[in-house]
Parts: sequence; C-alpha cells; structure tokens
Amino acid sequence: MNIFLNKKILLIICGGISAYKSLELIRSLKKRGAQIKTILTESAKQFVTPLSVTSLSKEKVYDDLFSLENETEMDHISLSRWSDIILVAPVTANTIAKLSSGSSDDLASTVILASNKDIFLAPAMNVRMWEHPSTKENVNKLKKYGFNFIGPEIGDMACGEFGEGKMTEPKQIEKKIEIYFKNLFKKKRYKALVTAGPTYEYIDPVRFIANKSSGKQGYALAKSLSKKGFETTLISGPTSLHVEKDINLIKVETAEEMFQATQKSLPVDVAIFSAAVGDYKVKKISKEKIKKQDKLNLELEKNVDILNYVSNHNYLRPKLIIGFAAETNNLEDYANKKLYEKNCDWIIANDISNKKIGFDSDYNEVSIFYKNNKNEKISYKSKPEISDEVVEKIINHLN
Ligand code: CTP
Repeated sequence: MNIFLNKKILLIICGGISAYKSLELIRSLKKRGAQIKTILTESAKQFVTPLSVTSLSKEKVYDDLFSLENETEMDHISLSRWSDIILVAPVTANTIAKLSSGSSDDLASTVILASNKDIFLAPAMNVRMWEHPSTKENVNKLKKYGFNFIGPEIGDMACGEFGEGKMTEPKQIEKKIEIYFKNLFKKKRYKALVTAGPTYEYIDPVRFIANKSSGKQGYALAKSLSKKGFETTLISGPTSLHVEKDINLIKVETAEEMFQATQKSLPVDVAIFSAAVGDYKVKKISKEKIKKQDKLNLELEKNVDILNYVSNHNYLRPKLIIGFAAETNNLEDYANKKLYEKNCDWIIANDISNKKIGFDSDYNEVSIFYKNNKNEKISYKSKPEISDEVVEKIINHLN
C-alpha cells in the first residue's frame, strides 16, 4: 500500500542552510504520489528559490500573506484546510519562538495559527541556539500545544560546530510521516457495508423467485475488508456460506428486508453492493400455498433499488459507493451506464457469459470502471484474491 498516494502535505520552509534538503523531500514525496503545496518564508528565499520549489512540486509557491492574487485563489485559511498535515522543515529558532507566542506576522505563522491539522516541526539551528533556555521553553510549550517534533539530530553542523541541532535527514522525516499516516489509518476505524447473495421474492409461503447468485464474491469482500480493519457489516440474502465472527452479519431474504437492513446500517464510509437483488417482487403474495391450476398469472412490481437510494441520499451517502454489474454482452457500455445512472463511484463488472467466472464459480475476472472514464482489469483469480486487490484500492482511495 502506498500510504502517500494523494496525501496533501503543506510544506513550510524556513530560512536555514538545511532548506536545500527540503527540495529532496519534495522530490521524494512527489514520487510517492503526494500533493505538495509549499510556503517559503522571506528568509527561506535566501536559501532556496521559488522556481526550484515549483519545478519539483509542480505547484504554485506561496510566500506573501497579503497577496491579492493568492487570497482570491487560495486564502491562508483554505491552505491549511486543504492539507492533511503541515510540515515545517526546517523550522528555525525564530519561527519556533513566533509559534509559541501565537504571533502571526507572515503567511507561514498565520497558516499554522489558523490550522486544524497535525503539525510537524523539523528544527535546524546551531547547537547553542537549540540548547538556549528560551528555545527549550518554547519547544516545551509547543509540545504541550500538540506540535510534533522530528529531530533535531546530533552531528557536525554547517557552522563548523558539533552538537544537537542538525535537521533530520529527508528520508527519516519521510519515514516519520509515513508511520503517522499508517497509524492514523489504524486508529480511524472505517465502516464498511457489503450486500451479497440473491434475494427471495415470495409467491406464496413455500415458493419464491430467486437467482443464481452464490454470494461468494460479496462474502470474500467482507472478509478482506474486515481483515484490513474495517468495521464490516454484511447484509446477505440466503446462502450457505460461512462468515467470520468479527463481521456483523445481517441475514435477509427479500429485497425489501435488504433495503430495511441497509438503511439501519448507515452511515458507513464505504458501501459495496454486490447482491443480486431481485428487480421485481410479487405484488400480492398469497398467504396460503397456491394450488396447482392450468394457468397462473403473477403480477410483479419493481423492487426499490437499494444502491440508487443510498447513492442519492443527501446526507448519509458513503464516501465511496461501489456497484456491481453482471453482464453477458456490451460490458463496458452497460457498466458505464450503470455508473452514471446509479450515481456510484466505481462499478465492478464481470462477464457472466464466461462460464469459468462469475456466479457460482470460486474464480472471477473483473473490470473496475471509474467516473473519469478510466477502467482497470483484475485478471482471472480466486474471489478472495480479487477481493484483497479491490480492498487495497479502497484503502488507497480513502487515504
Ligand atoms: N441493486 C440494488 N438494488 C436493486 C437492484 C440492484 O442495490 N433493487 C444493485 C446491485 O447490488 C448491483 C447493481 O445494483 O450493485 C446492479 O444493477 P442492476 O441494474 O440491478 O443490474 P442488473 O439487474 O444486471 O440490471 P439489468 O438487468 O438492467 O442489466
């Protein structure tokens, strides 16, 4: 799992000789898929140029608190709200002092003071400056305020002295941030909902209309999600499959019951609709067993579309909604049509005309269709393996 993919990092570079190392940090984090916006303090511009930062980050560099152009495009509040974390590397004794007193006389200190995100500081300064009681007091104050310090390290300094005050190497800073994001994911228990299996639409007390869905792919998805730490609810139509004990299993028979159970299970972060829900139900279910007769007319009416209901919910819509499409022909066209008509984020489609995959098979081959007209294929594999791959993609998406 690439934990940095699509992470938004606001990097603030202060003036210090180690500022050049932050360029290396930008390069490496970009390579891992992070988005980086950078603020340069006035003194940082003596050490690195906005041009070098912008060429590496491929983003505009911010430096001026009172820039009309910046404020209309992205103001200082939006800059902090945009980010997942703020990293100040290097942070100088002067900026530490400003932050500990709540001063906000430039863009960097204003963004930090207005921030609602976790903030990481990687100090770099001469050993005497670092050991000075005023710096110590400021650092302790910032720690109490919840700032996270990375380093500084002990070693030879650019000024020729030796001691504590060197900025932590970019690779090590990256490692620390990586651990932070990994722990964050573990701490936040995402909630997932999976619908699976067929539905039974009763005709009378002993007869029903059903379909061939085995539920295997949905059960495998629930297992992969739970394995990765998701608090998982599986709403299942009738199957003979086993379910792990840490999955919250809700057994249903009809589409209406599946709908009720789904409504009760919201809100969730991810919802996967893999159930083969009967499109129709019998309008008048006979209370008694229907006796044999020459002709039997059944009036059917449409079932509620559970996926459609959830994906159009105005305040309980999960962050990520995945629908399924089982098709015998025109897979791509039908999958894309379902993606838009059902307002889901992804459609997982499989070709059920291929006897080796789908329905009762233990194997599958699917294509995932995304909103940006892109799609990805997961080639022939066991259903649990397909599920593990899908869940990896879900985790990257949520991160
Ligand atoms: N779905 C649902 N509730 C329904 C019907 C379908 O939640 N009442 C969900 C399924 O779980 C699946 C997707 O919608 O994720 C499938 O869409 P659907 O239009 O039912 O597919 P098909 O039945 O294959 O449609 P069609 O026959 O038109 O191809």
